Amino acid sequence: MRKTPIDFNVVNDKIKESGLDSVGTGTIREIKKLIDEIESATGKKYIRMEMGVPGLPPAPVGVNAQIKALEEGVAAIYPNIQGLEVLKEEASRFIKLFMDVDIDPSGCVPTVGSMQGGFAAFLTLSRIDKNKDTTLFIDPGFPVHKMQHKVLDIKYESFDVYNYRGDKLREKLESYFKTGKIHSVLYSNPNNPSWICFTDDELRTIGELANQYGVVILEDLAYFGMDFRKGYDKPGEPPFQPTVAKYTDNYILFISSSKIFSYAGERIGIMALSDTLFNAHYPDLKRYYVNDKLGYSLIFGTLYPLSSGTSHSAQYALAAMLKAANDGTFNFVEYVKEYGRKAHEMKRIFTENGFKIVYDTDVNEPIADGFYFTFSYPGMDAEQLLNELIYYGVSAISLLITGSERKEGIRACTSLVQSDQFGDLEQRLQQFHQDHQTE
Ligand SMILES: Cc1ncc(COP(=O)(O)O)c(C=O)c1O
Repeated sequence: MRKTPIDFNVVNDKIKESGLDSVGTGTIREIKKLIDEIESATGKKYIRMEMGVPGLPPAPVGVNAQIKALEEGVAAIYPNIQGLEVLKEEASRFIKLFMDVDIDPSGCVPTVGSMQGGFAAFLTLSRIDKNKDTTLFIDPGFPVHKMQHKVLDIKYESFDVYNYRGDKLREKLESYFKTGKIHSVLYSNPNNPSWICFTDDELRTIGELANQYGVVILEDLAYFGMDFRKGYDKPGEPPFQPTVAKYTDNYILFISSSKIFSYAGERIGIMALSDTLFNAHYPDLKRYYVNDKLGYSLIFGTLYPLSSGTSHSAQYALAAMLKAANDGTFNFVEYVKEYGRKAHEMKRIFTENGFKIVYDTDVNEPIADGFYFTFSYPGMDAEQLLNELIYYGVSAISLLITGSERKEGIRACTSLVQSDQFGDLEQRLQQFHQDHQTE
């Protein structure tokens, strides 16, 4: 029997009971359940890095505004599908002050999380041109977006950007655009799971090709402002959150409240269409909608049948949080910086014990410290590594489910790890390193 930080026999029994063939290929939820059970059987806490959930309390200014709205009775009233005017105005202001981009409030539409925004956008954009039936994902990415394509029965293609950073991006993207079947491209920036951030040159390339081929760029800003190498926290002052919107008018931005305001539970985000796209006419839309205008069809043709709008009280919460950020009374970047501090320390502990960071640079700059990082261990693929780490009290997920081609890569999420666990992490990884000498 091996001597491991978490009792070897208990871990084996629990894996057997779980019915999983291999921990390394389990889904996030399966791994969560298994670790919960091992923790309660052994009384030992894992370094839990599998779930990408906020680890901070919700922004108080949002909670207070939401309580007030509920007390005033908004729960009884259907919200407008296009969103509360006050929210649309604050969202437009936020985009101006933190991105230096002008979008009319009419194009800023609340959705039931960015998840619903993505669903609505994919559904509608797959119908704007009968010759364009495919979404392109710049991976690695968030697996749920691909699930959305499966349930919608619409096509997608994807590539791992790892080998196509910088100058190499143009040719790779163009090879897809040239087929004439791509209607839109989605990426997250900063990226879940790799935490890479596109450089301005890369965003310019994406924007220029979007203009040339009439492709819509879906920029998922679930981690808005969280590249902590820069200071994107001063409203109206550079530097601004980098965006493709500087280089094309063919874009939709997705601003989630889940991570930047720790508001995941209330399921609210903003989908912001450029003025050009909001008013654009696509005659092929008439196959499904009464109107051929994209903005109108998205709101009244897609969001209406999906959920008839977004929670009324949560809209007041988001309006208040955006207003506080815009007015400079709530520094949302500072609020979430804790994730970056934790990532910095955790990456040090991993790399000092034989692990490597997989996605390690943005072209010529070391990657930022933030919500996620990726790691590997020499001589092991991701499945083998996860199957081993579970005996050392460390849980995470494989990059394979994210469209990454790095077979050795693991995603670590910093949010649920507490600073007082760093000692445990260090000891466990030191033992792991001793037990798995690479030479
Ligand atoms: C890249 C990315 N996009 C979208 C989402 C979902 O955002 P929301 O909670 O607003 O639906 C997440 C959440 O983890 C994410 O990581």
